[in-house]
Amino acid sequence: MKATRELIQEHEGITLMLKILNAVVKKAQQGTQVPQEDLDGIVEFLTVFVDKCHHGKEEDFLFPELEKLGIPKENGPIGVMLSEHEEGRGLIADLKAAVAAYKGGDSAAVAAMSKAAEGYIFLLNAHINKENNVLFAMADNHLNAEKDDWLKAQFDALELERIGAGKHEAFHAMIHRLEKAYL
Ligand SMILES: [Fe+2]
Ligand SMILES: [Fe+2]
Repeated sequence: MKATRELIQEHEGITLMLKILNAVVKKAQQGTQVPQEDLDGIVEFLTVFVDKCHHGKEEDFLFPELEKLGIPKENGPIGVMLSEHEEGRGLIADLKAAVAAYKGGDSAAVAAMSKAAEGYIFLLNAHINKENNVLFAMADNHLNAEKDDWLKAQFDALELERIGAGKHEAFHAMIHRLEKAYL
């Protein structure tokens, strides 16, 4: 399996979580009290799995490697991807703050949660489309088998270091639990 294929598979899990987040926010908007555990789980997934682990693989290894192979960073696709990761971090911080306010019973929290979630869902879906269809296709044309194997080894090491053994599977189990509950 190619390194980009591994990232595309992660995108599938992320896209599913975005659908769950959308459904959770709709429930909250309708006045249903969403369990704290579910909101915390979603925020943890977006912070740890998506940002630290998945974006880490792209930022620390894939993008620098592509830059070396001539794909431009400034004013090019890599620069756009990096600025979108940064924008996503801001929206996750907003979502986290809104979730904390929601738990505290703040009546304005649902609106703040919806605004951050909707912004994040829109941003990340478009971001994933660009990576899957444009940047990763460019990557596949530039990476030889040796570089690809090296990248996969770096991805494994980063995942172990940032989220630890077994956590990937635990996140998948959580996605499936939330999928059954909300979709
Ligand atoms: Fe990305
Ligand atoms: Fe990605």
